[in-house]
Amino acid sequence: MADYSNPFQAECMDKEAQPPEQYANIDRIAIERHSQRLTIAFIVSGLFFMLLPGTFLGVWKLVDISREHTVNSLNPAWLQAHGQAQIFGWIGSFIIGIGFYSLTKMQGTKKFPVQAGWVAWTLWTLGVTSRWVGGTTGWHWRVLLPLSAVMELIAFWLFGRSLRQRRPRHNSKPKEHWLKAVIASTFGFLAVLVINLMILIHLARTGDSPALPHVLDQQMALLSLWGIVVPTIFAFNSRWLSLFAGLRQPSWASFFAAYALIVVALWALFLQWQSISAVAFLFSALLVVEALHVWEPAVQPAKLLHVHRCFPLFLRMAYIWLVISCILHMLAVLYDHSGGIWGASRHALSVGFIAGMVFAIGQRVLPAFCGMRVLWSARLMFWSLLLLNLGCALRVIFEALAYESYWEFAWRVLPFSALMELAAVALFALNLAVTLLLPPAHLRSQPSSVVVL
Ligand code: HEM
Repeated sequence: MADYSNPFQAECMDKEAQPPEQYANIDRIAIERHSQRLTIAFIVSGLFFMLLPGTFLGVWKLVDISREHTVNSLNPAWLQAHGQAQIFGWIGSFIIGIGFYSLTKMQGTKKFPVQAGWVAWTLWTLGVTSRWVGGTTGWHWRVLLPLSAVMELIAFWLFGRSLRQRRPRHNSKPKEHWLKAVIASTFGFLAVLVINLMILIHLARTGDSPALPHVLDQQMALLSLWGIVVPTIFAFNSRWLSLFAGLRQPSWASFFAAYALIVVALWALFLQWQSISAVAFLFSALLVVEALHVWEPAVQPAKLLHVHRCFPLFLRMAYIWLVISCILHMLAVLYDHSGGIWGASRHALSVGFIAGMVFAIGQRVLPAFCGMRVLWSARLMFWSLLLLNLGCALRVIFEALAYESYWEFAWRVLPFSALMELAAVALFALNLAVTLLLPPAHLRSQPSSVVVL
């Protein structure tokens, strides 16, 4: 047998020495390992962005805001860097990692796009890092910011191209609805990255700091949340809620009507038709709740093996936060003076819905995607979700009261909400990190070491 330094190379090359019926197995094992490694890389870098440049920075700035009793004294570039790290660094990395793993598999790929995958990971991680460094330090920001957007765009293009190329050419089977929704969200992601690049080039040429002007920044934050993250969650939920939580199969007409309403809401947002935008967001959320039968009784038992039994409850909670966020958005259009109701609405969406959903569904699916592992601790899963929801409730209630000067005491509660969320995020990261460090369940000599509490 030839001596290959890379075991996967050896695996692929040595197949020539194998009888033909073994090719398929060897290919499948090699593909599985490549995709698992790449998924793990995206998940680990996503966890890093979530913890330090994202949550830690957010907590630190919230403590400063609470001390100063105003958000206006802070450098907006830092807050924008926090938002970028969370949306692109954490959620974006998770989306691309999961995409590489699951879509390539489902489309019946024969070969895994190893090189494109690793180039995409490197460019994506460098892109998000340069955006954060350029924003927070101001170091060569006129170059770093547009460069970051270019790197993110190329990384995403490589991801999309890999998926397209791996699709079997003569597949006469019509695409499943949930897959159409994933594809629609992928185009949303691409569109946001292109807009992001155009805006950052414009900022680099005409701006005087790495921070976007206030109104444009708020529009971009909503565009990233509603143009990338929310539709992607809806798309994967349309597949996974029936599978894992035992809910009825989605009603597709309402489901896709919700997507159309998101497009309307985003157009209206950029035309500054705030009320129309707010109403469209609310109706799209209600339509998805109805389409996915989120608050109806399950028709099948939920799949709870290795996760906490409250998993379906937390999934439903996330949708309560989505609707609360949309209602607060409408109230903000009417009554906000100092950013408190806007902030509460954004936090209900970003932490209540998005982080809540990723904590719940992520701890259900990621261990399996990262090498058929088993979640280390179902109890930690429960505590991370409970603390996240409690911290989010405190923040949403008291941010509106404090920022809008309704109740002075509310400023004292905000740092506690931030610490609670920090604890939640740390538990989530710890649970996933130990899960990834432990060998897969089928390779362990002592099955009793699996902690499923
Ligand atoms: C987990 C704890 C978190 C804390 C303590 C936190 C804190 C903050 C603070 C203090 C702000 C400034 C505006 C305001 O006062 O409302 C902010 C803005 C923002 N946050 Fe967070 N955040 C957290 C999690 C998240 C998550 C999970 C996401 C997204 C998935 C997110 C996305 C954003 C965005 C997009 C902005 C707007 C930034 C801008 O002005 O461009 N945050 N956050």
